Amino acid sequence: MRTKIVAGNWKMHKNAEETEDLLNELINKLPNDKEVQIIVAPTFINLASAVEHLEFTNIGVAAQNMHQAENGAYTGEISADMLQSVGVNTVILGHSERRAYFGETDAIISFKVDTAIKHNMSVIFCFGEELKDRQDKQHFNIVENQLRDGLFHLDKTSWENIVLAYEPVWAIGTGETASPEQAQEMHEFIRETVRKSYGNDIADNVSILYGGSVKPDNAKEIFGKPDVDGGLIGGAALKADDFAAIINAI
Ligand code: 13P
Repeated sequence: MRTKIVAGNWKMHKNAEETEDLLNELINKLPNDKEVQIIVAPTFINLASAVEHLEFTNIGVAAQNMHQAENGAYTGEISADMLQSVGVNTVILGHSERRAYFGETDAIISFKVDTAIKHNMSVIFCFGEELKDRQDKQHFNIVENQLRDGLFHLDKTSWENIVLAYEPVWAIGTGETASPEQAQEMHEFIRETVRKSYGNDIADNVSILYGGSVKPDNAKEIFGKPDVDGGLIGGAALKADDFAAIINAI
């Protein structure tokens, strides 16, 4: 059985006090009786307090990024060891905002994946096409290349640490969601692409999350599709009621 996962990517939102307030609300409002892994990803400086705050809950904590090097002269960066030293063992890598605004290429992202795996961290690997790619009917090619260049050098065992997150760039923060049918079509393609390289066991067991304008009113339909194993949620993860409703839609 594939793990169902709903993760909230808080992006660059919430200072220390606001983080604590939202975490308290989540502790009160999120369900704890569902077969779903719940994850929140606050900003770097609030990770340590989030881990402490959530210690006796069913809510896990992820980082939104990390550097590929073990340590060194990389001003402003954060290493895998630093994350693990405050109890964070999951990291989101390859988010489209990292690719678009911070020059992260497939090659850089694949180094980051390797470093995370070396540290036995779990990786939520993000990828997805831009609007123009879809208009040009290149979306399947783009997605396949992102998977190949970012992940397909991994050995089979490493896939135990990988969660895939398909996030079409045109649906992120735009209010424009992929239709449940578009999401299913792409998720099925992704699973079949994994199957061709890694076989049934890995393809059938890897969780594939959908991200891009998931809200309480569209979550149930999207999560109802057979190859959608949960969601990576941006804006709606910042409101406890909405995030709870999305988790309850699983
Ligand atoms: P929105 O849910 O705000 O569209 O963001 C999705 C996302 O980028 C999650 O990583």
